[in-house]
Amino acid sequence: MSNAPETWHYGLVAKWWAEFNQDGEEIAYFQKYVEQRQPALDVACGTGRLLIPYLRAGLDVDGCDVSPDMIALCREKMDGEGLATSLFVQPMHELDPPRSYRTIFVCGGFGLGSSREQDVEALGRFYENLEPGGTLVLDNENPYSPDYPWLSWRKDERVGLPRPPKPLEKAERRRGSDGAEYALESRLLDLDPLEQFATYEMRAGMWRDGELVEEEEHSLRINFYFKNELLLLLERAGFTDIVVHGDHRQEAPTRVSDFVVFVAKKP
Ligand SMILES: C[S@@+](CC[C@H](N)C(=O)[O-])C[C@H]1O[C@@H](n2cnc3c(N)ncnc32)[C@H](O)[C@@H]1O
Repeated sequence: MSNAPETWHYGLVAKWWAEFNQDGEEIAYFQKYVEQRQPALDVACGTGRLLIPYLRAGLDVDGCDVSPDMIALCREKMDGEGLATSLFVQPMHELDPPRSYRTIFVCGGFGLGSSREQDVEALGRFYENLEPGGTLVLDNENPYSPDYPWLSWRKDERVGLPRPPKPLEKAERRRGSDGAEYALESRLLDLDPLEQFATYEMRAGMWRDGELVEEEEHSLRINFYFKNELLLLLERAGFTDIVVHGDHRQEAPTRVSDFVVFVAKKP
């Protein structure tokens, strides 16, 4: 794969995030850690779903993301509310922020678009850019969560890949604040169980007055990690006192948790 992360958070997909992804239980969960230790860095901040409420609450948080489109939309929203902070465009494996942090957090961004080597590099960058005593809070969707194609880890199920494209015209449309309608349609192209990653294709459309005026195609690679594997990688990066939570709640994960969250210390 090329060195540039392969994600779909650009153009109309970025617009979709800015318009329609604004809430979620993750916001309150991560906020507790930011309140305890600042300054904080929101890695893969996207269009500011977490970052903007934290800025509104007066917290000292910077944001970075690999996608200039997501960052531009985040900045636009901040400007609209008179909020300001340092935002920068960087893939997490090349993280080189302007200052060090007492909290670094990643919500829904780890393992996206990258190679596994880059993910290891990213954990090292988080460690380097934390102050001693600082905290990393990183979530991970379990490979067997309902949103992931767990059955396709089996070779007999992979016979049907890539999944056939669905017509974008039939996808559910949502109306944005600009009056245009938007729709996304994704499909699984391939899954490699040996190297633990999947590739997806996303088609995005925008309609005005019922007419399709923009259409885009993007791809995304997702690396899958299991809990114990990430624990070892975090330890190898130097983190200690690692606590694991389930589903963005301050409690231990169970076998029905779809997400795990790692809260790790830099000694
Ligand atoms: C699922 S969105 C989550 C955004 C935000 N954290 C939230 O929870 O609303 C994933 C974000 O990760 C960013 N991203 C993907 N791969 C990345 C990488 N290798 N380095 C930095 N950001 C990345 C995307 O551009 C996108 O904004």
